This record gives sequence, C-alpha cells and structure tokens, in this order.
Amino acid sequence: MSQRILLQSSTGALFLLLSWSVGLVIGEVGTNFSNCLNFFYNETPPTWDKAPRYQPICQRYKNQYRFASLYDRQHRAPLFSAYILSPAEGKRPNSIWKYEPQLAFSRASPEMKRFNISVDQNVIESQAVLQDYRNSNYTKGHLNPSMHQKTEEDREATFTLTNIVPQRAGSNSGPWSRLEEEVLRRFKAYCEGPMYVITGGMPYESGAHWINNRVSVPEYMWSAYCCPSYKAGLPESVQQFFPTYAAVGRNDRNSGEEIVPVKMKAKANIRGYDVRRMPLDTLEGILQRRLAMPISLFDVKCQK
Ligand SMILES: *[C@@H]1O[C@H](CO)[C@@H](O)[C@H](O)[C@H]1NC(C)=O
Ligand SMILES: *[C@@H]1O[C@H](CO)[C@@H](O)[C@H](O)[C@H]1NC(C)=O
Ligand SMILES: *[C@@H]1O[C@H](CO)[C@@H](O)[C@H](O)[C@H]1NC(C)=O
Repeated sequence: MSQRILLQSSTGALFLLLSWSVGLVIGEVGTNFSNCLNFFYNETPPTWDKAPRYQPICQRYKNQYRFASLYDRQHRAPLFSAYILSPAEGKRPNSIWKYEPQLAFSRASPEMKRFNISVDQNVIESQAVLQDYRNSNYTKGHLNPSMHQKTEEDREATFTLTNIVPQRAGSNSGPWSRLEEEVLRRFKAYCEGPMYVITGGMPYESGAHWINNRVSVPEYMWSAYCCPSYKAGLPESVQQFFPTYAAVGRNDRNSGEEIVPVKMKAKANIRGYDVRRMPLDTLEGILQRRLAMPISLFDVKCQK
C-alpha cells in the first residue's frame, strides 16, 4: 500500500478529528490504515508524517469498521477523520462518549470503551477525556458528524473523543452545521456513488491554543469531499461542485480575514464563525501553507 505524504507538523500546531459511541465499540490502533482503506478514495489515504505522534485509527464498533481517523497524540485530538457519507435514517443518538484504550496500552483489547467514572491515569495521559471539555467554553465538534451516517450503529460510532475537536458553539451549531447539511443535500441530489469525505481542524500558525492545557484547539475547521460518480448533465450552476469541493470554517471570531472573511451582518451569536466554500485546490493550498508540506487529500484529485 502506498501512502503519500501529507500531514506533517510544521510549527507543532496541527489538525484534528474523530469519534464513536455506545455499547461494544472496538477500535483498532495500528501503524497504518490497512484495515480500513475502503474509507479513502482509491484506497489511498492522504500522506502524513510517520512520526509516532500520529496514530492511525480504524474506528471499529460492534465488529465493523465505521470510519478512519488520524490521531495526533501531542494535541490529544484527531488531525482528520475520513468517512463515506450516507444520510442518516434516524435521529441523533444519545451521546454516550467513548475513548480508545489502545492509545493508552498498545496491547489493550481493541474494544472501544465508554468512559467510566474513574478514568485510568494512562488513558488521561494518552488522549482527551470528558473533563477537558467541561467548562472549556468549547463544544465537542464532530469531524465525522453523526447525521452523515446511515445506521444507528454508524451514528453511535461517531461519539468517540478521537473524532472530536474543541469547536465554538457559534460554529458547531451555526455555519458549520449549515455546511454539513448542504453537503448532505448535494450528495442526495447529484451523487451517484460513494462520497468520500475528509474533515479536520487547522492549527493556529503560531501560539497554539489549548483547553485545560491539554487539548489543542483548531483555528479553523476544514472539509473536502470527493464524489467520483455524479449525475450526467449537471446544471451549469452545479458543475463546479463535482467531483470535488471544499470549505474552511472559522473557529475563532478574532482571527484575521485573510482565509475566511466575516459577514458583519450575521446574527451576533454566529458572527465571526463564517464558512468559506472553495475548490479543493484552494483548500489544499491553504493547508499546504499552514502546515508547510505538500498536501493531496484525494488520489488523482478524485478524477476517475
Ligand atoms: C500495516 O500494518 C500491518 C499490521 O498493523 C502490517 O502487517 C503491514 O505490514 C503494514 N503495512 C505497511 C505498508 O506498512
Ligand atoms: C470503573 O472503574 C472502577 C474502579 O477502577 C472499576 O472497579 C469498574 O470495574 C469500572 N467499570 C467499568 C464498567 O469498567
Ligand atoms: C469561559 O467564558 C466565561 C465568560 O466569558 C469566562 O468568564 C471564563 O473564564 C471562560 N472559561 C475559560 C476556561 O476560558
């Protein structure tokens, strides 16, 4: 299996992503994504720094792989989650939060566990825990959102803190949530096969921000999709959205406007959390500059 280079660390600030849920959750922590390549277009994950800090996780729950995440141990947050979009056939499940035992003990059972009242110190060292988010003024932002997953079990599987980054409420329940709905609508209207999605967080250029001095906060959210098979004869106004499109969303209302401009007329609770839609190339250019490394999110740019 070949993996191109993708996500490396530049200034130490990087990306994020991932999660799961209820019942018997099984997570697999390996050195690569060999058990869950199907969540990447052409079975080709983006490339990343092979430093031990970056931990591929095949997100497994109730005996099935549900999606994939690259976890940044230093940031105690995912760099990205990769999944195949499929519209939810039910409601958002109860949020029963999980952690990944294998991040704490390499020989741990691959079963993902729900948080116990008492959390082992090795678990606390190795990853984010619920306490980190308490009183942090950040919500738990899904990279793979539960409403992009068809079955109840797939949705439950997104409630793992390995799929979560600290996200401002104004973004999470505002413009970023609108973007997630828009991508879902576009999938239903025009996509005629799988839609591969990769969503992550973009670190601050300098001066990392942390919650509880432990979990890195992204300055921006980003997302891109690849839908290689779409309806013939797309209306002209829609052609630009296929086979790929992307977006960057503000997660700090005080950020400058070079990457995502602010609409001053937006309502106060969401002002400063705008999302800018853009072609895939534009997103890759932004990530490349921020991370000082070449970035290619989808094999052959999602061209068949
Ligand atoms: C991927 O990991 C598996 C086991 O985790 C290992 O057997 C395999 O050699 C690895 N593949 C590559 C290309 O590193
Ligand atoms: C929760 O932690 C306590 C104390 O360490 C332990 O006795 C108990 O078995 C744990 N429960 C579960 C469900 O892991
Ligand atoms: C959260 O916001 C409140 C109100 O703005 C502030 O007083 C508090 O210090 C903030 N907490 C943290 C952890 O930043």
